[in-house]
Amino acid sequence: MTSRKAKLIIDGKEIDLPIIEGTMGPPSIDIRTLSQEGLYTFDPGYISTASCSSAITFVDGLNSQLLYRGYPIEQLAEKCDFLDVSYLLFNGELPDAKEKEVFQSTINGHSLIHDQLTSVFKGFRRDAHPMAVMIGVVGSMSAFYFDDMDVSNRKHRRLSAERLLAKLPTIGAWSYTYNLGLPFVYPQNDLGYAGNFLNMMFSSPNKKYQNNPVLTRAFEKILILHADHEQNASTSTVRLVGSSGANPYACIASGIASLWGPAHGGANEATLKMLAEIKNESRIGEYINRAKDKDDEFRLMGFGHRVYRNKDPRSEIMKVTCHEVLDELNLSNEPLFKLALALEKIALEDEYFIERKLFPNVDFYSGIVMKALGIPNSMFTAVFAIARTAGWVSHWNEMMGDKNNKIGRPRQIYTGKTQRNIS
Ligand code: ACO
Repeated sequence: MTSRKAKLIIDGKEIDLPIIEGTMGPPSIDIRTLSQEGLYTFDPGYISTASCSSAITFVDGLNSQLLYRGYPIEQLAEKCDFLDVSYLLFNGELPDAKEKEVFQSTINGHSLIHDQLTSVFKGFRRDAHPMAVMIGVVGSMSAFYFDDMDVSNRKHRRLSAERLLAKLPTIGAWSYTYNLGLPFVYPQNDLGYAGNFLNMMFSSPNKKYQNNPVLTRAFEKILILHADHEQNASTSTVRLVGSSGANPYACIASGIASLWGPAHGGANEATLKMLAEIKNESRIGEYINRAKDKDDEFRLMGFGHRVYRNKDPRSEIMKVTCHEVLDELNLSNEPLFKLALALEKIALEDEYFIERKLFPNVDFYSGIVMKALGIPNSMFTAVFAIARTAGWVSHWNEMMGDKNNKIGRPRQIYTGKTQRNIS
């Protein structure tokens, strides 16, 4: 809170509104008392509304800055692994060597899923989308751990967060191998978080997965870059669901559901679908023109961002990783990847995109990297969900520990019929 105040004058009446400042970022006008005046504010899509205060992640979209607990994403992607970052998001500090060892072993200890949960997988059609399976299986976890689900108990919250972090890669990988009709591959404690997921995806009883350090590190970076992004749609969903006191598994399942939409986490999958539709470089112009046409609903998938009106720092990191992976696998000349690189170049040089500051977002490149790693399109958003679980559990825990937490209950402007009677 500062001494600065905003003044609202309505029908001649003056209302002073306090201004709240965080440690960084723009100030917010505190409108909490407005409802006492019989007034609400209108802000669909929360374009100008801070829904909470949070000490986890800071995004400055104009200056391309993304900090997790104060650390720049560039340093975290370079120097840390995903478990360091998950620990940091939840606890506020990076782990020292001993803390890391304990955390790693805790996550290893929780990475198996309850054997009866395999029956939940088997209830799905074999061609079910992995995100549909993940929503169902993660939600079902609430039926398995009800003894440790007191959301006001800090220890229970930590345990739930660890379980979710540890089990999401197993659930995600199994959602895919279930599609293939392959047996579920169990997690291996010695492989690390990223390597373990790739092993569960790609090994089978008759074939070992060959770990390639360049590819595993690239995958680790995808996880780190997607771990959190303050109050995005899925995190806000987790907070809203959690604000009613709902259990953590229900909250994270709702986050996965929100993430699935193509305007959010579905964008990496939508990017690859779009590239498959464009098919060859000669048709790029046609699609660029469609993206610019206001009468056409088509948008260039993997471009633009609600918060970044300048380059997304994650996409800069992912771009470098993308080129490293394509070089490592000698894929730069494969038609799909050539097409993606040509599209990137054309859009970056096009006035429409330059004027509106529409840059390729992290999902444009992460989709290409995942495709190169052999991860099928249907798993792209699932990978995002695995990574974002680190952010979701941290935000949920922060909110549940906040004494001022209130159930989320927005207002509306009613535009329906006024009261009438049945004749
Ligand atoms: N292709 C073509 N035009 C676009 C695109 C795009 N991908 N994105 C924005 N625009 C245009 C809009 O039509 C609008 O033009 P106008 O000013 O002439 O009306 C202008 O750029 C501003 O766009 P908004 O719609 O106001 O941006 P908003 O913040 O609402 O949307 C969003 C952001 C949803 C990400 C949008 O850019 C989009 O749909 N992108 C494609 C989907 C995508 O890649 N999503 C991933 C987001 S990143 C993530 O979730 C990790």
